[in-house]
Amino acid sequence: MLKLPGLIDPHVHVREPGQTHKEDWDTVTQAALAGGVTTILAMPNTIPPIFDHSTLELTLDAARQKARCDYGQYLGAGPSNADIAASLAPKTAGLKMYLDSTFGELRLDDMTLWTPHFQKFPKSMPMVMHSESRTMAAAILFSAIYDRPVHIAHVSLKEEILLIKAAKEKGIKVTCEVCPHHLFLTKDLTGFTPGRTEVRPRLATQEDVDSLWANLDVIDCFATDHAPHTLEEKDGENPPPGFPGLETMLPLLLTAIDLRRLTFDDLIQKCVINPGKIFDLPEQPETWVEVDENAVYEIKAAHQFTRCGWTPFEGWKVKGKVTKVVLRGETAFEDGKVLAEAGSGRNVRG
Ligand code: DOR
Ligand code: ZN
Repeated sequence: MLKLPGLIDPHVHVREPGQTHKEDWDTVTQAALAGGVTTILAMPNTIPPIFDHSTLELTLDAARQKARCDYGQYLGAGPSNADIAASLAPKTAGLKMYLDSTFGELRLDDMTLWTPHFQKFPKSMPMVMHSESRTMAAAILFSAIYDRPVHIAHVSLKEEILLIKAAKEKGIKVTCEVCPHHLFLTKDLTGFTPGRTEVRPRLATQEDVDSLWANLDVIDCFATDHAPHTLEEKDGENPPPGFPGLETMLPLLLTAIDLRRLTFDDLIQKCVINPGKIFDLPEQPETWVEVDENAVYEIKAAHQFTRCGWTPFEGWKVKGKVTKVVLRGETAFEDGKVLAEAGSGRNVRG
């Protein structure tokens, strides 16, 4: 039996308010616990989006009643909410800026709309960028100009990881995360309907994947970008982009450790220590995850707690199973069952 600290996932789409047929605060935190994750940070691209006081309270009310693990909620950067965002900052996980198009309505096209957020959002609070390729280069330039840290979400390309490496070498305050699906899958993924391969950023080439593995030291965090959509939606017309990931990240990483592609130290750094620092998260005393290192089994959507009903890793053979999770002294998950009560999760900014 292996004992790990509770994992932190800084990139989760909860879907509540507005799309609870995909997921809600209850099911997403059950999925988190089953995956050894004891803290999630929730993205703001809900319906309505979380961008002011009342929408923030709307989602935090639901979280207070339903969450079974600890959580924080990002605010979305809109075209005209820089003052409000700055004043709400202490109650949020941080500010999320959508600089490229994706699922939801929070895109900031025009760079003049970025500036007030860079000027006003407190430098001590995280700013997370959905920014791909050249947009990412622009976000890093903004970080340098306004001398404030930025965190780049879901890095997937060789050109991105190399530019982040160079920016770090120059002393620019940039950190980044990589998702398991960009480490373990390529754009040649087969055996699925086209809709089930849709994700933003898109799956990339083998060369891109290899460059992420070759630059593990540049990667600050692993994050799932857990983005549940139902099978009906994924297999229908206009499939929305996004993969679930909370229940598969740890088994995939443990399997990579078994194959000597990764070390335990990498896992702890990128899933606990670095996200804890970057997002300024409180300690969780008496919190740990027990793993049966030798359990070999197949990933099956049928065994997952997420409401979305599928996984791009269906049938993958993995080694390493979460057997128990203890959160703040209480057994939260054991032998495949979630024991933590709805509402027992705490807001990390509480
Ligand atoms: O694939 C994605 N799905 N990428 C995103 O940035 C958003 C997410 C979603 O919310 O479904
Ligand atoms: Zn996302």
